[in-house]
Amino acid sequence: MKFEFEYEVYDSIIELAAADQELVNKAFNATWLSYSPYSKLKVGACAMTNMGHTIIGSNQENGSYSVTICAERVLLSTLSTQYPDEYITTLAITYLDLNDNSNHPITPCGVCRQAMLEHEIKNECSIRIILASQNGQIYIIEKGRDLLPLPFSI
Ligand code: THU
Repeated sequence: MKFEFEYEVYDSIIELAAADQELVNKAFNATWLSYSPYSKLKVGACAMTNMGHTIIGSNQENGSYSVTICAERVLLSTLSTQYPDEYITTLAITYLDLNDNSNHPITPCGVCRQAMLEHEIKNECSIRIILASQNGQIYIIEKGRDLLPLPFSI
């Protein structure tokens, strides 16, 4: 067996389609809503739904570190609560690292990959994922399940 997938690589945000640039900019604006006094890594996400709504999320940390919620899962919870009948078509994720350069695309953690996968399964949809950096490359992945081979399922 073999698992492989293709993804697009762009050198700058200006190479993206206008709608994608807008989503990345909204994700970047959401980084300012991040509560991340411990890691100083401000993650922002913005999703477009099938009904044309945009939803944002940002990471929310806690002094008891494991309580922290990633930007992606804040966004997914907000979507399920605010627009329970809608699903994500495109999701942009970006970040601002106060300790370092923000010059490589952020890639979601395993927990968020599992959460995104379940969103795809329950809605029978594919989330097109834009992994962005402020001054580095941008990756576009056609579906969340590409990011999680052999996922947990019951
Ligand atoms: N974080 C996210 O928000 N999304 C990810 O995909 C990876 C990590 C957050 C969690 C924590 O607040 C900080 O980044 C450092 O791990």
